[in-house]
Amino acid sequence: MSKIAVIGTGYVGLTTGACFAHLGHDVVCADIDVGKIRSLQTGDVPIHEAGLEELVREGLESGRLSFVVDSADAVCGADFVYLCVPTPQSDGGSVDLKHLKAAAAEISAHIRHGAIVVNKSTVPVGSTLLVEEAMDRPDIAVVSNPEFLREGTAISDFLNPDRVVIGADEPTVADRVADLHSSIAAPVMITDPASAETAKYAANAFLATKLSFVNTIAAVCEAVGADVDDVLTAMGYDQRIGGEFLVPGPGWGGSCLPKDTRAIISMADDAGYDFSLMRGVLKANDEQFKRVVDKVESVVSLSGATVALFGLAFKAGTDDTRNSPALEIAGLLLDQGAKVRAHDPAVAAVGIDEITVLDDPYAAADGADVLVVVTEWDEFRLLDLDKIAEAMVSHHVVDARNIMDREALLSRGFTYQGVGRN
Ligand code: UGA
Repeated sequence: MSKIAVIGTGYVGLTTGACFAHLGHDVVCADIDVGKIRSLQTGDVPIHEAGLEELVREGLESGRLSFVVDSADAVCGADFVYLCVPTPQSDGGSVDLKHLKAAAAEISAHIRHGAIVVNKSTVPVGSTLLVEEAMDRPDIAVVSNPEFLREGTAISDFLNPDRVVIGADEPTVADRVADLHSSIAAPVMITDPASAETAKYAANAFLATKLSFVNTIAAVCEAVGADVDDVLTAMGYDQRIGGEFLVPGPGWGGSCLPKDTRAIISMADDAGYDFSLMRGVLKANDEQFKRVVDKVESVVSLSGATVALFGLAFKAGTDDTRNSPALEIAGLLLDQGAKVRAHDPAVAAVGIDEITVLDDPYAAADGADVLVVVTEWDEFRLLDLDKIAEAMVSHHVVDARNIMDREALLSRGFTYQGVGRN
């Protein structure tokens, strides 16, 4: 078993650390956020991620997982150092690498000879080299090992991945990183660093393309009178297409797909290639947010209307509202003079004064003209529709996730609009 340091305890770093400890390795996680480290030291996990708190507590109890503020303390005895720091989007869509460079420079003097630095942050092609330069330690190998973790299922994605991709210049170095995953049954692909870095962006760009395609097919279904569920089920049976990631919605969001699609466009631009297909994918997504608002506007005049927004997280199973379709749609509604009352089972606040967040769905529906379902929480399927009807002043539902019981709503006098349904 190996000694592993993880720098950065966001959902990628924390999942990586907790899972490696679960697999039997000795893991020290570091983060500059003192409050977060203090919480983690007591087993409190600040993010909503299924199974993560249990794994963190298991790691703490076994003594195989610990948390420190100082990255030098974390890396000094480590065989492997995982860089899991944020790589936010900068102006123009490119990736801001300041955290990565700072982390690399900070740990450089403290890493022991022969250790391997593993870059897990999502970073543009060439960043493996950039970390090597920032560390200025020719005796330390740097490899790329992109993460393919979905929020909400990050633990199972780590422990049962579709593949592990390791980009390294030296096969022996790649083999050592591959060995860390020896108890995981998944194909391990060893590539050069540039291919591993590109594979990460290409995968997210393809997923975003698939979703924009699905959402535009839903629009076609509405236009021609077809049913999107039947159309997509028929498509999904084709093994070349596959049935996953084929659910239409309010548009896609989150901390990854929007950032990574913009980054791959920016990377391609810098390399002299106009990735116009990807620009179309982003445009289709913006149009999808707008289509939800158009549906609201088809039943009420937006100025002065009250909209109950059900869902703030970018998808069910997480409390993450970064680039959430709900906030995009709320922004468009507010711009046109609507009032927004919102409820999400996992989100208590969004830091936007104009959005009133209520912890009770019936309170959020109180006085509303239109109810818009944006996040696919199971809780919304189980709502007492009579209570919702009582709370609202007009009875309109825009179901941007196709999860509500249409017949039950219609029978109570609601109008109903789903996505790609007639
Ligand atoms: C995404 C990728 O799916 C992961 O493979 C990747 O590792 C991760 O980004 C990352 O780069 O770290 P995540 O951001 O958790 O994972 O979100 P997804 O599950 O991909 O969902 C993205 C958006 O698409 C959400 O708004 C979701 O509601 C929407 N979606 C997803 C649909 O509208 N329909 C679907 O069928 C699937």
